Amino acid sequence: MKTIFSGIQPSGTITLGNYIGALKQFVELQDEYNCYFCIVDEHALTVAQDRLELRKNIRSLAALYIAVGIDPNKATLFIQSEVPAHAQAGWMMQCVAYMGELERMTQFKDKSSGKEAVLAGLLTYPPLMAADILLYKTDLVPVGEDQKQHLELTRDLAERFNKKYNDIFIIPEVRIPTVGARVMSLQEPTKKMSKSDPNKKAFISLLDDPKTIEKKIKSAVTDSSGIIKYDKENKPGITNLLSIYSILGGKSIAEIEALYDGKGYGDFKAGLTEVVINALKPIQDRYHELLDSTELDEILDKGAEKANAEANKMLKKMENAMGLGRKR
Ligand code: TYM
Repeated sequence: MKTIFSGIQPSGTITLGNYIGALKQFVELQDEYNCYFCIVDEHALTVAQDRLELRKNIRSLAALYIAVGIDPNKATLFIQSEVPAHAQAGWMMQCVAYMGELERMTQFKDKSSGKEAVLAGLLTYPPLMAADILLYKTDLVPVGEDQKQHLELTRDLAERFNKKYNDIFIIPEVRIPTVGARVMSLQEPTKKMSKSDPNKKAFISLLDDPKTIEKKIKSAVTDSSGIIKYDKENKPGITNLLSIYSILGGKSIAEIEALYDGKGYGDFKAGLTEVVINALKPIQDRYHELLDSTELDEILDKGAEKANAEANKMLKKMENAMGLGRKR
C-alpha cells in the first residue's frame, strides 16, 4: 500500500476551501492508501497566535477531521507537536535548504510583504513541511493548488539530501484535485478563499450556522450579466459558486447550468445555500458530538503513538546520514 501524508494548520476556522481542496480528498483516499493526516500546530506558530485560541483550534480541527469522515481505524490522525521528530527533522532540512529558494516562495512573499516584523519561522516553514512529508516515506501528498510550490521545494530538498548524504528519502508526488483545487473568496473571486481573510464574508467556515451561510452566499460578489454560466475569465464569481455547488451538490456544471437556465442569481444563490447547508449539517452534528469526547483524545493518543514509531525510524536514518550524535 502506498503512503499519503497531508496536514492542515489549526490557525482559525476551517473553510470550504480547506474542505474541498484537502479534507474531501483525504476521505476519498483513505481506503486505498496508508494515510497520515496531521494537525500541523508548529506551522501555526509562524504567525502570532493566542495560546488559548491555538489550543482550541487544534482540538477543533481534530474533531473536524473525524467529522468529515476520516476513519481513525484506517488513517493515522495526530498532532504535529506530539511527534518531536518533526521539529528535529525540520531543523535538519533547514540545513539542506538555501535562503534564496525560501525567499522565493510566493506564500512567504505574500505573508511578509508590507510587514515590519516578520518571524524567522515564516521563512523557514517549508523545510519543516518537507520534514513532515519525508519522515513517513510518503508517496503522495494531496493538497490544494496553493501548496504546489512548497511540494516542489520538498522534492528538491529530498533529492539534494539523497545526493549529498544518503539515498534515504522517497521523492513524493503532489495530488491536486481536478475540480476545486482553488476555491475562491466570495468577496474577491480572483483571490483564494482563505481562513486568514480579515473580511469574514469572504469565506464560509465548516462550522457556520445556516443563517450565516445564507447571508454570506447572498452577499457573494457576482457580475451584472444575470446568466448562470461557467466562465473563469469573465465570470469568476459565478464560476466559483458553480464549482462549489457542483462539488457539494454532486451535480455536473452542465446540469446546474441547465437547472438555472432562464433563472436569476437570486434563485441560484438560494439553491446553492440549500446545498451548502445540507452538506455541512451532518459534519457539524458529528463535530459537536466529538469535540469534548474522550473518544477524540483516544484517537489522538493512538495516532501520536503510531506516528512517533514511524517518524523516529526515519529520524534515526537522517541522523546517521548527516553524522549527528553517536553511532548506535
Ligand atoms: P493550510 O492549512 O493553509 O491549508 C490546508 C489545505 O487546504 C488547502 N486549501 C485550499 N484548497 C482549495 N481552495 C482554497 N481556497 C484553499 N485554501 C486552502 C491547502 O492547499 C491545503 O492542502 N503548508 C500547509 C500545511 C502543511 C502541509 C504539510 C500540507 C504543513 N505540512 C505537509 C501537506 C503536507 C498549509 O499551510 O495548509
